[in-house]
Amino acid sequence: MSKILITGGTGFIGYHLAKRLVGQEHEVVLADNFFRSERDADLIALLEQPNIKLIEADLTDPALWDALGTGYDYVYHLVGINGTKLFYEIPHEVLRIGVTTTLNALDWFRTKNNQPNAKILYTSSNEAYAGALDAFGKLLIPTPENVPLVIADPYNPRWSYAGQKLIGELLFIHYAKAYGFRMSIVRPHNFYGPREGYLHVIPEIIERIHEQPDPFPIFGADTTRSFCYIDDAVEAIQTVMESDKTDNGTYHIGTHEETLIKNLIENLFTLMNWHPKELDIQNSPEGSVKRRLADVSKIKADIGWEAKIGLEEGLRKTIEWYTAHPHKK
Ligand SMILES: NC(=O)c1ccc[n+]([C@@H]2O[C@H](COP(=O)([O-])OP(=O)(O)OC[C@H]3O[C@@H](n4cnc5c(N)ncnc54)[C@H](O)[C@@H]3O)[C@@H](O)[C@H]2O)c1
Repeated sequence: MSKILITGGTGFIGYHLAKRLVGQEHEVVLADNFFRSERDADLIALLEQPNIKLIEADLTDPALWDALGTGYDYVYHLVGINGTKLFYEIPHEVLRIGVTTTLNALDWFRTKNNQPNAKILYTSSNEAYAGALDAFGKLLIPTPENVPLVIADPYNPRWSYAGQKLIGELLFIHYAKAYGFRMSIVRPHNFYGPREGYLHVIPEIIERIHEQPDPFPIFGADTTRSFCYIDDAVEAIQTVMESDKTDNGTYHIGTHEETLIKNLIENLFTLMNWHPKELDIQNSPEGSVKRRLADVSKIKADIGWEAKIGLEEGLRKTIEWYTAHPHKK
């Protein structure tokens, strides 16, 4: 049994990771300030388990880290401001919260956690390298871990998120080297599943299918993404954390199943038993990032992980949850 801290632990990935770890009888502490998550029925049920505890704290305040206790074997540093809309609305906060919580996490971990052989993991993002396409007009597809991290335009608020992830990766790499502790970095690629909120692509399309507009608008119909179901994703994150082969390394987590957005929506129509008479197909503007596909061969080669849940199975489970939990507006 291990003692585990998850920062940003009541969010999408944190909740599912915590549920998995609690089921394995680890002792789990979640730290979050509910900036972007809810104390909903799923979280309340999870918190009823005897081996999990929630500490409400704004992790930008270094003093509040002292309340988290010590002696953690594993620290999953998930806190961050996710959601594209917020990158445009509050880029300064995306940067401040991302950078300060990461500096606080590393300083607390190296000076206060006080647990021999402990490890800390950072969730970066594919956004940290996506700017290479804007800046240089090309990106290897599928994209491996060692491509350059690029901020295409610092004046464009969209790159605030990528900027703090890029700094986060540098901080993790060089703090771990300087102070001699164990760490890994993961870059999630389009995780989806229940309890993701209502603003991401799959929940948003499910909601629109429930509303049945006809003609049905499809935005960015010609773009592709690779979607990774959350149960696979949290298994990958835990496997990276618990292996020592991954120490001081960076890993892409995702699938090699490249899905055209138009086909994703056609799949959802079929699974939800409704099809509009007419589609209003809107392709993405010229020059936008049309393909995004991770090279996930490194995680397989180093620790044998690969995704097991196909898109159709994952979509079924996601539809089931969102149908039972419609968006309250
Ligand atoms: N979901 C994905 O596909 C994906 C893709 C790329 C990167 N990531 C990264 O993985 C991490 C987790 O993502 P997620 O999808 O679970 O996001 P999420 O928004 O659901 O979870 C982040 C959590 O951090 C909390 N938080 C924000 N500011 C805080 C603060 N000052 N103090 C304490 N808690 C605070 C939020 O309330 C939220 O619960 C994030 O860092 C995100 O950038 C996720």
